[in-house]
Amino acid sequence: MPTDVPPLSPLDDDGVDRAVTAAADAFAAATSLQELKDARLAHVGDASPISQANQAIRSLDKADKPTAGTIMGSARGRVQKALAARQAELEAAEAERVLNEERVDVTVSRPRPAGSRHPLSALVDDVSDHFVSLGWQIAEGPELEHEWFNFDALNFGVDHPARQMQDTFYVGEIDLPDGTPVEGAADGLVLRTHTSPVQARTMLDRTPPIYIACPGKVFRTDALDATHTPVFHQVEGLAVDEGLTMAHLKGTIDHFARAMFGPEAKTRLRPSFFPFTEPSAEMDLWFPQKKGGAGWIEWGGCGMVNPNVLRAVGIDPDRYTGFAFGMGLERTLMLRNGIADMHDIVEGDVRFSTQFGTTGRGN
Ligand code: DAH
Repeated sequence: MPTDVPPLSPLDDDGVDRAVTAAADAFAAATSLQELKDARLAHVGDASPISQANQAIRSLDKADKPTAGTIMGSARGRVQKALAARQAELEAAEAERVLNEERVDVTVSRPRPAGSRHPLSALVDDVSDHFVSLGWQIAEGPELEHEWFNFDALNFGVDHPARQMQDTFYVGEIDLPDGTPVEGAADGLVLRTHTSPVQARTMLDRTPPIYIACPGKVFRTDALDATHTPVFHQVEGLAVDEGLTMAHLKGTIDHFARAMFGPEAKTRLRPSFFPFTEPSAEMDLWFPQKKGGAGWIEWGGCGMVNPNVLRAVGIDPDRYTGFAFGMGLERTLMLRNGIADMHDIVEGDVRFSTQFGTTGRGN
């Protein structure tokens, strides 16, 4: 406060009026809450003429106090009103500004990295489509399987090496399901080591003619390396009907090979052994892209359903014959798409999957 200006008297009606007008003008001129605060301190703060005049009432003669009180009371009222009005305006403007500045445009589309179907899922679809196009059905079975279905029903002897701990994930023991048709059967639970138990389940459920393909996950106690993984996929095929021969088997897998690998593809059968087929064969695929030149490469196993298996599931082997085959889908994918390392299939890096396109069709 400049000291040469005489202090405002609480009895100076006009002077107080001017101070009030000056305060109201200053409030109206404030363009932000901070400026309003500064104006308030200047015009009604402790050192302001109005405050000083207010305090000066105390030292007036008793007779003058009511008049001064009236003048100052009215002045305070008008100042407060002007202040509150401008405060409300500026707060509203501030809220409006914040709303505008912090507006989120929910319609803006942000590019997100697109995922991609895993080529193995796409292959399972392709395989299923192929067999459905032949009029076959797709069958499924549980991944946690009764030892009985995984081995016994498929004619694996109790001492068969495939039952051993180093191949099979044993999970526990349970009571056998009602109707299991073999006395004293194994009662363990395993992670299925192949899709062949779906053969047994299907034959128990349905009556011939049966034409099914079962793609699915299987498990073996292998370590993950460039060509093995403990969790992998197979597709199983099973046909049971009157009069089926190995010629039907050969025609079916040749047709499947062409669907997977193109019109030049063909298969070759080499005598082999599987407990659930008799005769059994290893199935080789003619592979033009083989390292070191075109040649045969092992693709899966197959054979004519062993009459013991038909008997175990209640199908008359004198009336019906069947053929079956099974192959690894990771292996099929690796051969078909030139994938050298199993890690790429297993690790789930989207940069791998996107190379196959999102739909997985036609690659
Ligand atoms: N289940 C066999 C395996 O995992 C593959 C196989 C061989 C399936 C012969 C069949 C078959 O259906 O007939 O090694």
